[in-house]
Amino acid sequence: MALYAIGDLHLSYGGQKSMDRFGHAWVDHEARIRRNWIRKITAEDTVMILGDLSWAKTLEEAGPDFDYVLSLPGRKIMLRGNHDMFWNAKKTAKLQNAFGEQLLFLQNNYYEYVNVAGVRYALVGTKGYTWEGKDTLDHAEKLVERETERLRLSFDAAKEAGLTHFLCFLHYPPTNIYEKDSAFTRMAEAYGAEQVVYAHCHGTLRFHDSIRGMYHGIRYSLASADCLRMDPMLVME
Ligand SMILES: [Fe+2]
Ligand SMILES: [Fe+2]
Repeated sequence: MALYAIGDLHLSYGGQKSMDRFGHAWVDHEARIRRNWIRKITAEDTVMILGDLSWAKTLEEAGPDFDYVLSLPGRKIMLRGNHDMFWNAKKTAKLQNAFGEQLLFLQNNYYEYVNVAGVRYALVGTKGYTWEGKDTLDHAEKLVERETERLRLSFDAAKEAGLTHFLCFLHYPPTNIYEKDSAFTRMAEAYGAEQVVYAHCHGTLRFHDSIRGMYHGIRYSLASADCLRMDPMLVME
């Protein structure tokens, strides 16, 4: 039994948006992810899908992308990415009802993972937000506020349930390229998270946009699909 993560699947089975234009790293990426996933992930494993699952604008259009994900083994837990337009944040409960146990949505809640040593971990997370120069600073501040509040709800839900070990997942990197710390890193530290795993940064030029490795006692990892060479990353056994 193990816990894996991968983000930015950027599927488009219901549309025409190929990722091949992003360079050779993305050629045939859906088949490569499937091959790597099937090779090592079993029905007993858990996979965190860290957002940007689909280019689809609607749930209907995303249907074939969900079919792809549901055909893969393991318990699958999803975060929202900035491109996941099919997922209305205010209607997450409805989305969860539509999928039942087949696919779990992480938003203002948490899921549990028991590692090989029998330690109970809370899987917490939210989309996050990183300023990339596209928003005004005022607007950016509001988005950070909203996302940190969602992350707090996720941590608190786990804490109230008596869990004391946390693994934190974000779609956006925890800091922008100018920052050393952020509201997200401070919250991860305050709750005692052991790891922060994020995605969103793709293209080799962006792989070091944020923290990677140990920082203030937390292990930070980037799990965007191209950074992982389309191979889900082992987070914990
Ligand atoms: Fe992405
Ligand atoms: Fe993204």
